[in-house]
Amino acid sequence: MKRILILTGGGDCPGLNAVIRAIVRAALNEGGWEVLGSKRAFNGLLQDPQQVVVLDKAAVSGIHVKGGTILETTNKGNPFSFPTPQADGSTTLIDRSDELIETLKRLNVEAVINIGGNGSQQISQKLFEKGLHIIGVPKTIDNDLAGTDVSFGFETAVQIATEAVDKLVSTAESHNRVMIAEVMGRDAGWICLHAAIAAGADVAIIPEIPYRIDSVIEKLNNRFHRKLGFANIVIAEGAKPLHGKTVQHASTEAGYQNAMLGGVGYQFMAELTQKMDVDARVTVLGHTQRGGIPCAYDRILATQFGIRAFEAVLNQEYGKMVALKGAGLDMVPLQVAASSDRLIPLDHPLIDTAKRLGICLGD
Ligand code: F6P
Repeated sequence: MKRILILTGGGDCPGLNAVIRAIVRAALNEGGWEVLGSKRAFNGLLQDPQQVVVLDKAAVSGIHVKGGTILETTNKGNPFSFPTPQADGSTTLIDRSDELIETLKRLNVEAVINIGGNGSQQISQKLFEKGLHIIGVPKTIDNDLAGTDVSFGFETAVQIATEAVDKLVSTAESHNRVMIAEVMGRDAGWICLHAAIAAGADVAIIPEIPYRIDSVIEKLNNRFHRKLGFANIVIAEGAKPLHGKTVQHASTEAGYQNAMLGGVGYQFMAELTQKMDVDARVTVLGHTQRGGIPCAYDRILATQFGIRAFEAVLNQEYGKMVALKGAGLDMVPLQVAASSDRLIPLDHPLIDTAKRLGICLGD
């Protein structure tokens, strides 16, 4: 019996369970395979006692419709700088990658499938360079993973953001207010741009285009002069003013290696209301965009990714990540996903669509 091990790393994302289910079903239908799952990314393998579970048919039955991940996840479990408690109560980051590889050998694991975003795929690449048989599956609601046209989870997040902005439109209109919806997107404004176009927002502020508040005020003045006494703005959490910085906070969580974003909507509102006499309110959608059930598109894409990942194990296509290219699936080197972010190119057709619609991008 050959063994394969699955893990989910980084932030959770609608569709993770559909990937897990697809891998397990494909492996069991193939025959001769047993599927294991490590809890909370690599933590399940490195912690004492270990938390590694057998994923059989019953374990994955019906999970594709559920949000989150049955394997749980963490963004504080990089095996190359693993938070390890010390005798004095402090926590030190230690490289435990060799120990991890030894553990996988002891468990007779033939191949690992790491379902995660760019941080996770950077770890996959480093483990591959150390000789581990590893395959990546792209996951991120931000849709900013290089190498794939789309990641599962994105479509669900866009739907949630769009519905939120739809709701803000009617309350903006009743109160003659400017409503600002802050959506996720650390480096890339895909959720913001899609939701702004879908909901018919007046302004979309994305990380790729540092904003000038005067350009937004010009747009709003125009609307208000036309007696359209309300406006809707969508802003990505990673947006920043021209010559300014992103709004971020240092985390106190040991092993958390990202900057915590969130709050740019309030900074934007302050800048706006200093110069313009309008009532404004901010709604930060935050993690609501990652929760709940995955939409049908994400369930299908996640399922396709899972099936292709298992096929990649059979073909021994190690060091690669499953990707969507046009209408088909492909395998791309993990290095591609690990090395850069997939930002919105400024000549992307959707930027043109937004501009021709009259959506102000703050430039
Ligand atoms: O990468 C997806 C993302 O949703 C980002 O947009 C956001 O900044 C980040 O995750 C927050 O993740 P967490 O709070 O889980 O660290």
